[in-house]
Amino acid sequence: MSTAQIFLDRNRTIAAISPLLFGGFAEHMGRCIYEGIYDPKSPLADENGLRTDVLDALREQKYTVMRYPGGNFLSGYNWLDGVGPKDQRPRRRDLAWFSIESNQFGTNEFIDFCRAIDSAPMLGVNMGTGTIQSAADLVEYCNAPTGTYYADLRASHGYKDPHNVKYWCVGNEMDGPWQIGALEMAEYGKKAREAAKMMKWHDPTIETILCGSSNDRMPTYPEWDRVALEIAWEQVDYLSIHYYAGNREDDTASYLASAIQFEEYVDTLDGTLRYVKAKRRSKHDVYLSWDEWQVWYKGDPTRGNWQEAPHLAEESYNLEDALVVAQWLNVFLRKSQVLKIACVAQIVNIISWLQTRADGLLKQTSFYPFKLVSNHARGHALDVLVKAPSVETSKFGDVPALDVSASYDAETGNGAIFIVNRSQTDAIAAELIWQDGEPVTFDAAWQLAGSDVKAANTWDDPNAITARSIAVPQMANGKATIQIPPLSFTTLTTRGK
Ligand code: AHR
Ligand code: AHR
Repeated sequence: MSTAQIFLDRNRTIAAISPLLFGGFAEHMGRCIYEGIYDPKSPLADENGLRTDVLDALREQKYTVMRYPGGNFLSGYNWLDGVGPKDQRPRRRDLAWFSIESNQFGTNEFIDFCRAIDSAPMLGVNMGTGTIQSAADLVEYCNAPTGTYYADLRASHGYKDPHNVKYWCVGNEMDGPWQIGALEMAEYGKKAREAAKMMKWHDPTIETILCGSSNDRMPTYPEWDRVALEIAWEQVDYLSIHYYAGNREDDTASYLASAIQFEEYVDTLDGTLRYVKAKRRSKHDVYLSWDEWQVWYKGDPTRGNWQEAPHLAEESYNLEDALVVAQWLNVFLRKSQVLKIACVAQIVNIISWLQTRADGLLKQTSFYPFKLVSNHARGHALDVLVKAPSVETSKFGDVPALDVSASYDAETGNGAIFIVNRSQTDAIAAELIWQDGEPVTFDAAWQLAGSDVKAANTWDDPNAITARSIAVPQMANGKATIQIPPLSFTTLTTRGK
């Protein structure tokens, strides 16, 4: 058996882990909202029409922040369509997904949904067909005390108290030719700056997110990011990253090294942020918001043939996809000095590890890594040193077989270690070595593993790949050895002094 060493030191920290790294994204697309979150005719719905089985699964995953209403949908959305008496809301053709939007779920229903799962709402303002005025009006509608037009409109809709929405996306993927009302970089920078300025005049406590490049394959990447930031720097607090991973070439070794690419993406934009801050001689900081990330490549349609709640992009996730998701979460911890928000796209049915049917809910493989990391990563991310055998990949050359992150919470003394073994063949005996602050004991351990990278959970076999509780290793003199099977994700939690 191969061996590896993982060196941990509770004082060797990277940064405090932003709780907002465990966020989700819910778009009016396919069956995310309708038949996913909101299904008033379902026997599983509560008095607000929210599906209770979905709510329970979302609570289990502890989403801290929730992005809404899009996505591409945002760029054609008039938020006024989705508020007020439901029988007076218009049915519209949605040009992002060629679907019919009934508007039975809108901003206020979304806020109620966020409260039900204890998640902070993150709203988007339309920078496609929308104006800087409609953006500012939505902030007034949501956050202003009553006494003026839009705040009173909110009160007349049954919500006297302001919603106090803190996080605001200024548009979505405005560089994409697929975007309704796509803009050139300087045009967008200017529109975003003016929108954010008005939005913050309404409520100076909000934080705004500027659209970065839609992905790192855009011809304008990372120039778009630099230009938009240089124009809007002082008015924004985050730059968005979007990325969808996939194994299109069926090259599993490279796919399982996706963390390398994720880190490069963050590093490039981190460099861009530092450059713009220096160039502007600014004291203001802007961080990264990875507010769309997920595995998406299996090719379901994305156009809805003018149906309501069509089946779009309902991905099936297997073991290798779950191991990529686990690495993504490791990268969030390892880059916690600059990454402050992340939202998985999306939370149910659309590109999601949760799938609904009229009679139930399926938790796919990657549900489990997210749940483990979002439940156990607390305090500070640790700068872990890993010595591991390497794995050969065609895309990234030799990469370490183990991908690791760790956290330590000085307040509780609790820690967590997250280990992916990307080797498809080799079990590894990994020695955990605490250089400082060895824990008193292990609390628990879970492992998600399998021998077939394509194995998935299905309605007939819903628990084929889950995170199973395993025996904790023995701790002696600040050291412990754990057996890590190939193709696995292990979570260990520790209790400290
Ligand atoms: O999440 C699905 C879509 O992917 C979003 O609407 C868009 O922003 C991205 O291209
Ligand atoms: O499917 C339409 C667009 O194509 C998506 O929003 C984008 O991510 C992709 O490039």
